[in-house]
Amino acid sequence: MPVTLPQLHDKFERGEPLVMVTAYDFPGARAAQAAGVDMVLVGDSGAEMVLGYPSTVAVSTEEMLMLTAAVRRGLQEPLLIADLPFGSYEASDDQAVMTAARFVREAGAQAVKLERGNATSVARAVAIVQAGIPVMGHVGLTPQSATALGGNRAQGRSAEAATRICREALALQDAGCFAIVLEAIPAAVTEELVSLLRVPTIGIGAGPAAAGQVLVFHDLLGLRDGTGARFVRRYANLGAEAVAALSNYAEDVRARRYPAAEHCYTIEPGELAEFRAALGNP
Ligand code: KIV
Repeated sequence: MPVTLPQLHDKFERGEPLVMVTAYDFPGARAAQAAGVDMVLVGDSGAEMVLGYPSTVAVSTEEMLMLTAAVRRGLQEPLLIADLPFGSYEASDDQAVMTAARFVREAGAQAVKLERGNATSVARAVAIVQAGIPVMGHVGLTPQSATALGGNRAQGRSAEAATRICREALALQDAGCFAIVLEAIPAAVTEELVSLLRVPTIGIGAGPAAAGQVLVFHDLLGLRDGTGARFVRRYANLGAEAVAALSNYAEDVRARRYPAAEHCYTIEPGELAEFRAALGNP
């Protein structure tokens, strides 16, 4: 049965940790589905992870719709949330509602996520929620505004910055967000936040007090170059395995070890003789 928002909230109330992971395609969705996660986010991190852009701001709504629809086809139970890309919701409430509705209608998302808790994002969250589409908020490090934040670095490390993040999270909760992502903030700040919020928090680099955790698919599976941010735990090294497998394949082809007999189709000897005769080559 598909995961519903009330079910997620019940889990949260019971103190059960919520599990979210990003996915950007059909096989990724199938893996998340088989692993039994609660929520799958088609993050705009897909811009970097699967489309090769230098940052998340480059990805278009059309590209995010295509990624989300592919994930939809591989997912049955987990709640499917789509990130609203940079530039697709900031201009007006109408723009935000229209973009969010496209993710629901055209790509099968059940909820959308938007970044920041400033007045603009809060207003857009209100508009989208009023249009009947569940919204997840996102505060702390918000990569769409990384330039303004001084790069992809931890946020909320001064009393003033932590207070601002707290105000933003409360405003997003009041706007009707069903959950709020906390990215790259001190664990102690998260502890204070969770005691103030009634909605679940989903942490990424926000310590253990968050109600749930999210990791980027390519980070946790080791499909990305480098070690990643300090909060990443790698559960596999699939990138290295892929290179080893492709190298073995290349060696086998060059040494004529692949394909072997078991990879070949056969033809009846009589049919083969007739074929050769037809070619004048008995
Ligand atoms: O785009 C993304 O992957 C995200 C997560 C890090 C929460 O926003």
